[in-house]
Amino acid sequence: MTEAIILAMQKRIRLHELRVGMFVEELERPPQRTDARFSPFRIATPSEIDRLMRSNIMSVVINVQKGIDILDRAPQAAPFDRQAVETGLLSSYSRQDIETARHSIEAAKADIQSVLAEARISGGFAANAANKAVELIMSSAMNNAGALIGVAKLKASDEVTYLHSLAVSALMITFGRNLGLDEDNVRHLGLGGLVHDVGKMTLPRAILMKTGKLSADEKGIMQTHPQRGYQVLSKIEDTPQEVLDVCLFHHEKFDGTGYPRGLVGKQIPHFARIAAICDVYDALTTIRPYKRALSQAEAIDIMMTSVGHFDRELLSAFLSKMIINGTVR
Ligand SMILES: [Fe+2]
Repeated sequence: MTEAIILAMQKRIRLHELRVGMFVEELERPPQRTDARFSPFRIATPSEIDRLMRSNIMSVVINVQKGIDILDRAPQAAPFDRQAVETGLLSSYSRQDIETARHSIEAAKADIQSVLAEARISGGFAANAANKAVELIMSSAMNNAGALIGVAKLKASDEVTYLHSLAVSALMITFGRNLGLDEDNVRHLGLGGLVHDVGKMTLPRAILMKTGKLSADEKGIMQTHPQRGYQVLSKIEDTPQEVLDVCLFHHEKFDGTGYPRGLVGKQIPHFARIAAICDVYDALTTIRPYKRALSQAEAIDIMMTSVGHFDRELLSAFLSKMIINGTVR
């Protein structure tokens, strides 16, 4: 076989692109570890991918003749082509699952909008409506998480806020379950995801609705939304501490460069570190009219290369338990 043909069969890929069924021919390690022994192998289980992701390996070379190829790296269809989006959803989920997801989203809409409206109008927390919406999202995500998160990606301009709240809630519920947390903690995650940005509702409308770039002053005001949300949620005495933590700390970064406090590493509460991942994942993959969303692979690539932003251990778990295992497609 000529060298050119062999090269055409080999592809260097990043670790998050690994899938069961790929044939790994080479590992790229940091320079000081190039002497480690290695035999080519076919990936048989998700736990083998897990092990590679936790290692110091930087990238791998796969042979697409001996195993499966990577997913298409091409950008997805223009998002305003609703038909293309529908086709994409149908290739991942059944028609029935998509319909069920749409019904759930419609059923939760009024309660989520009451929570947002109450915060906007009176600065208060409509806890009963929030709890009702979370119960619904929890039961819908039980059997239908991928379709629910997939359908919620498609946001018309007047739906962005409530669907982002719903999507982050569904992602956190599903991630929490896949991490093995009990249902009480999963409920706290779901409520935290639902209300993480509720403080934005108390911001001046001119800043919230501005479509252009924010000035430095406006950005400063925008960045007060975690504390504003904390104040809203604190008005109800029995709001769980975990939910307050998600709201106040979802913009903290693992390396200490986030806000509002600049907390470092595990000083950031566990549930807030989970929220940071789910919040950014939904923001990157959201499909808005006239603006192309990133594909899942592009979003993951950005998150994996955002050095210092996320808890790496949790981000690896998100990849293996949410993406690689196909929960979210
Ligand atoms: Fe936020």
